[in-house]
Amino acid sequence: MLKLCRNRRHGWILNRSGSRAVCAVSGQESLNRGYAMEQYAIKGGNPLVGEVEIGGAKNAALAILAAATMTDETVLIENLPDVRDTKVLIQAMESIGVIVNRIDRHTVKINASHIHDLTIEDDYIKKIRASYYLLGALLGKYRKAEVSLPGGCNIGLRPIDQHIKGFRALGANVRIEHGLIITEAEELRGNHIYLDVVSVGATINVMMAAAMATGKTTIENAAKEPHVVDLANFLNSMGADIKGAGTDVIRIKGVAKLHGSEYTIIPDQIEAGTFMFAAAVTKGDVTVKNVIPKHLESISAKLLEIGCEVEESDDAVRVVAAKPLGHTHVKTLPYPGFPTDMQPQIVVALGLSTGTSIVTESIFENRFKYVDELTRMGANIKVEGNTAIIDGAERYTGASITAPDLRAGAALVIAGLAAEGVSVVDDIKFIERGYEDFHIKLQSLGAQIDKVNTERELQKFKLKVG
Ligand code: UD1
Repeated sequence: MLKLCRNRRHGWILNRSGSRAVCAVSGQESLNRGYAMEQYAIKGGNPLVGEVEIGGAKNAALAILAAATMTDETVLIENLPDVRDTKVLIQAMESIGVIVNRIDRHTVKINASHIHDLTIEDDYIKKIRASYYLLGALLGKYRKAEVSLPGGCNIGLRPIDQHIKGFRALGANVRIEHGLIITEAEELRGNHIYLDVVSVGATINVMMAAAMATGKTTIENAAKEPHVVDLANFLNSMGADIKGAGTDVIRIKGVAKLHGSEYTIIPDQIEAGTFMFAAAVTKGDVTVKNVIPKHLESISAKLLEIGCEVEESDDAVRVVAAKPLGHTHVKTLPYPGFPTDMQPQIVVALGLSTGTSIVTESIFENRFKYVDELTRMGANIKVEGNTAIIDGAERYTGASITAPDLRAGAALVIAGLAAEGVSVVDDIKFIERGYEDFHIKLQSLGAQIDKVNTERELQKFKLKVG
């Protein structure tokens, strides 16, 4: 019989015998160990040319990993991107007793039949907000979960009121104590839930909890992102009954139990889009392979508008930038609109276009922090509130710059690839959260980029590139 007992350090602990269970993070990289101060050294000027293979979608992977804890049977997940965020979520899962076996770099087997702890510690949430997906997953399966309240973020305020509203609508008691969100329910009952804002995270969290609630749930004004659909498909492959994912209205019939499954994660829309814009900015010719072109439509449309050629085939998209880039206007929107996660990359491209462009950020209020860095490379950009007014410059020049967050970091690398001279990008730990082998993939397209760890390595790079 499973029993819940309280442990001061680890919070609630699930225990079969009533004796105290211990946290099992052993053998993993210490959470407190700092990251090495690695940098990217880039010599710009080479057009990117060739083919690049896109990995599994990071944001789908985070939801699917969390959902894999909802069955006691073994789950096999393929096309898992090997990036920092997925590694940290796996560590968070292992800390509560989930067994994760790595079959190869992109395949894991997960067994969550011996979860002994329903508390996700602070360190994990600090490193990766999506650890809070374990809230919906564990609430669904065990009717209880405690997760540290995610803190602030470099791209602005990120409230979780819609997640809480959804859990409460399902009958859970949700309270915040000592920095933890504590959610528990005698019984989870399906309900009609209208989300006040279109939120990927809230849609995912509520969908997971509702998948194992009693009765029917309807989520209205749901997020339609490809990774929301991928999670629904994964849950359905485990025996859930979810319809309508990818539309505004998701209908879920709760089931009592989920079973094991084998599942392949979809390709990463944002990784693909980043390479597509890298082709545009460097006046290159790049084919992104292993993608779903439909997921890239808003990105392809903007590339066409600024004068690139875009060729789609079944599972690849080729971007050729033969002409000078033209200007355009962009507003970030929930899917199928232009993704906020592609906003810095398009700004880097428009910074080198002819004419004036206006980019409006409608999802996160603080997502233009990288503009100061881009200005140091020669961009003419004025930010007013959530709008950037961009007067195209003739060129960027290399500079020492710092990645403020994941996507802006990747965008600054692209700017460096187009710039005259050498750029050094600091804080690449942000970029590595979501891009696997970023510099290696860029090298394979002809970019002059290396990861350097010391001043000596940087000097060596400079000598090499001349
Ligand atoms: C997810 C993505 C992130 C992407 C974002 C928008 C993951 C792991 N992350 O983040 O890469 O940039 O979608 O596409 O998939 N909001 C509320 N209350 C809530 C929740 C959200 O007001 O309870 C607001 C947010 O402040 C934001 C908007 O809703 O303005 C969208 O946020 P949301 O879709 O929830 O983003 P995340 O799921 O955090």
